[in-house]
Amino acid sequence: MDPKLPTRPLLSHLFFVSILLLTIFHPRADSQGEYCRHPARPVVITPHNRSDSEPQQVHISLAGRDHIRVSWITEDKKVQSVVEYGTAPGKYDAVATGKHTSYQYFFYRSGKIHHVRLGPLKPETTYYYRCGGHGSEFSFKTPPSTFPIEFAVVGDLGQTEWTKSTLEHVAATDYDVFLLPGDLSYADSQQPLWDSFGRLVEPYADGRPWMTTEGNHEEESFPIIYPHGFTAYNSRWVMPYEESGSPSNLYYSFDVAGAHVVMLASYAEFEPGSPQYKWLEADLARVDRRITPWLVALLHAPWYNTNLAHQGEGESMRVAMEELLFKARVDVVFAGHVHAYERFTRIFDDEGNACGPVYVTIGDGGNREGLALSFKSPSSPLSLFREPSFGHGRLRIFNGTHAHWTWHRNDDSQSTMADEVWLGSLVSSRNCMRDSGDDGLQVQPSASSKDEL
Ligand SMILES: *[C@@H]1O[C@H](CO)[C@@H](O)[C@H](O)[C@H]1NC(C)=O
Ligand SMILES: *[C@@H]1O[C@H](CO)[C@@H](O)[C@H](O)[C@H]1NC(C)=O
Ligand SMILES: [Fe+2]
Repeated sequence: MDPKLPTRPLLSHLFFVSILLLTIFHPRADSQGEYCRHPARPVVITPHNRSDSEPQQVHISLAGRDHIRVSWITEDKKVQSVVEYGTAPGKYDAVATGKHTSYQYFFYRSGKIHHVRLGPLKPETTYYYRCGGHGSEFSFKTPPSTFPIEFAVVGDLGQTEWTKSTLEHVAATDYDVFLLPGDLSYADSQQPLWDSFGRLVEPYADGRPWMTTEGNHEEESFPIIYPHGFTAYNSRWVMPYEESGSPSNLYYSFDVAGAHVVMLASYAEFEPGSPQYKWLEADLARVDRRITPWLVALLHAPWYNTNLAHQGEGESMRVAMEELLFKARVDVVFAGHVHAYERFTRIFDDEGNACGPVYVTIGDGGNREGLALSFKSPSSPLSLFREPSFGHGRLRIFNGTHAHWTWHRNDDSQSTMADEVWLGSLVSSRNCMRDSGDDGLQVQPSASSKDEL
């Protein structure tokens, strides 16, 4: 019999009381304007129903060339941070040892959080693995080393019934890597909700790398006691910042197949001279477009946005960093924060520009705050498609020149493709590559078309 059982009813009682209070009084960290929202669906709590030594909240992430990081949590502090793995079920011919951490947040104490880096691994290969020597077997597939590659992109996920349908829709078609531009659990300081979120996403995140960057809901700072914030996020969702030369888990980059993906921080300093700015400048300078012809960036608070929600919140970051991305010829920028879908043409400095990135807002994962229903009227000619519905996006890169972007709306339990566009890489544009560099602003005027950009 589990000796901890007698304490469980009290703890879970406290937990549900706190959820109730939270539902009534939760801080509307995300609500600014007076726009009206489509009904959110209830938060789902995913209970802990395994033994204390078994892994829970298992998720994987890319961790430098040919490596994967496996992260999981155990209540039992004696479980070792080891992962046994191999390419056949039940047959583990490799073992990796990693690190562990834990944190405290007011009266909450996390379990033992394990992070173990596996590799080198073969591309496009299924690996079977067991965490800490306990519990059942998991498996993941490594991404391919060459095109094609497919990314699933969803922001502002939360943990509601809408979140569940979004995740089911994402998983219904195969993909290689999951990209999340911020706002994960909506725990908003209620730490058990981070655990519940970890358990909700485990069936998806244990099999494909989940690459995240932080949103405002990850911050959870508190004056004097937790002034820097991001305690839970940085402890649980370790990303390959060390592997990409970044000083902070809040921003980093990685290469996968022929894409270089830059994950930026809307909630760390970004002004010229700041650590993030210097890191980004150096990171972009290292990109070799012959190896990674596609360059993609993600951040939380959108730089372009015609929704009435969160107007202007990404503006100071845009002013600080847009030119770096433009000169590097970034192909696409994905943002979250606004709970709706919006796709723009190629832009630089508030004007259509054939050598600028395509901007997409994809903060429509399904969190408890509901949708941002109201858009500016009239719209901007730069905004090509906008809709306040929950859903997810997919970027399928076919080769060095062609990619297909699709957006899939949640029509209740159905997933419906509602927007699509073919993208041509900027490296394949002779005009844009010739003009990149210091005098790179002399570029062709935008030739924006609905069907191909
Ligand atoms: C444990 O929880 C998961 C997720 O909620 C559920 O699918 C599973 O059936 C549960 N298992 C048991 C033994 O209750
Ligand atoms: C790249 O992929 C697109 C879409 O499948 C195809 O039309 C095009 O011919 C491909 N280009 C090359 C060079 O293979
Ligand atoms: Fe947000």
